[in-house]
Amino acid sequence: MVKYGVIGSGWIAESFVKGAQTVEGMCFAAMYSRTYEKGKEFAEKLGCEKVYTDINEFAKSDIDAVYIASPNSLHYEQSKLMLENGKHVLCEKPITITPDEFSELFTLAKEKKLVYTEAIMMMHAPHTQKVKKALEKIGKITTAHFDFSQLSSKYKALKNGENPNIFNPEMKTGCLRDLGIYCYYPALEFFGLPEKFSASAGFIKTGADGYGTAVLDYPDKQVTLTYSKVGQDYCGSQIFGDEGTISIDSVSMLTGVKIHFADGRKELVQDEIEKHIMMAYEAKNFYDFITDYEKNSKKYFAINQRISEVNQLLFEVKNICNII
Ligand SMILES: NC(=O)c1ccc[n+]([C@@H]2O[C@H](COP(=O)([O-])OP(=O)(O)OC[C@H]3O[C@@H](n4cnc5c(N)ncnc54)[C@H](OP(=O)(O)O)[C@@H]3O)[C@@H](O)[C@H]2O)c1
Repeated sequence: MVKYGVIGSGWIAESFVKGAQTVEGMCFAAMYSRTYEKGKEFAEKLGCEKVYTDINEFAKSDIDAVYIASPNSLHYEQSKLMLENGKHVLCEKPITITPDEFSELFTLAKEKKLVYTEAIMMMHAPHTQKVKKALEKIGKITTAHFDFSQLSSKYKALKNGENPNIFNPEMKTGCLRDLGIYCYYPALEFFGLPEKFSASAGFIKTGADGYGTAVLDYPDKQVTLTYSKVGQDYCGSQIFGDEGTISIDSVSMLTGVKIHFADGRKELVQDEIEKHIMMAYEAKNFYDFITDYEKNSKKYFAINQRISEVNQLLFEVKNICNII
């Protein structure tokens, strides 16, 4: 049994708990919220009895693990506090803002024999391997385009002069870290680190990046990434080979994936999957890594290696684009 706690009471935390409910052995045992009423409402709805409003007490409680779904600026300090108190940590993306922070906490986790990883959906989903296999069917790949452009649900609030967390640079949010990250993951998972890259970002009035573009150059291919929180995509992502094209409806979940062969045939690689099932994959990996570290360490370290590479690249992109 892994008794886990949750930090943050937003919709993504609820989705994670619903996913984790399908994983045998995962038990939602404690909730941390800044306000008791909010924490209690979340905990009661999802079957948890203990609510904390003091993060230090929460860290010292008898939980084994924690899922962190707070604003990005808090990920490092909250993860550190939890690891120092002997808790395994699954943290929402981006796991940290800087590569040094990630490296420090991953080292701390290793010293304490704890699991520390990022809740990035495609890296925990079993069908990612199926999509990778599909790449072998479309011949020589020379170009790919990954897009995640989604008009933010907080856009109206922004236009009304409010400063929602997701557009507040103090929260280390903005488009690159919120949606852009989902384009970098498949690029690196499918094609590895680029030889060189260029990137730029567009800013909104709060000072956060609202949209951005990157071109990743490989010796034999070019991969373009586009992402926006102020405009909506309807075309999805595509990988182009000389014998076929792979289309991807959801780049963050790697779902709605089809091969369109040059001779007109079509093949469904991966259908749609409900969000909480994607979260269940993360919860299952987290559970497996905690309960059988030896057996699963190869997979765990491979995932964290990719997390480290994306974290480093995002940091470099942030710097050249002057993102706060
Ligand atoms: N995997 C995914 O598909 C996905 C989707 C959305 C978001 N995310 C990630 O999940 C994390 C949370 O995103 P979100 O949109 O849920 O964020 P959010 O609504 O701004 O904040 C999440 C929770 O953090 C607490 N919080 C809010 N503002 C805070 C502040 N100023 N100081 C301390 N705590 C604060 C609140 O919980 P209390 O009031 O209970 O303390 C809130 O419910 C982000 O890292 C984001 O990247 C992932």
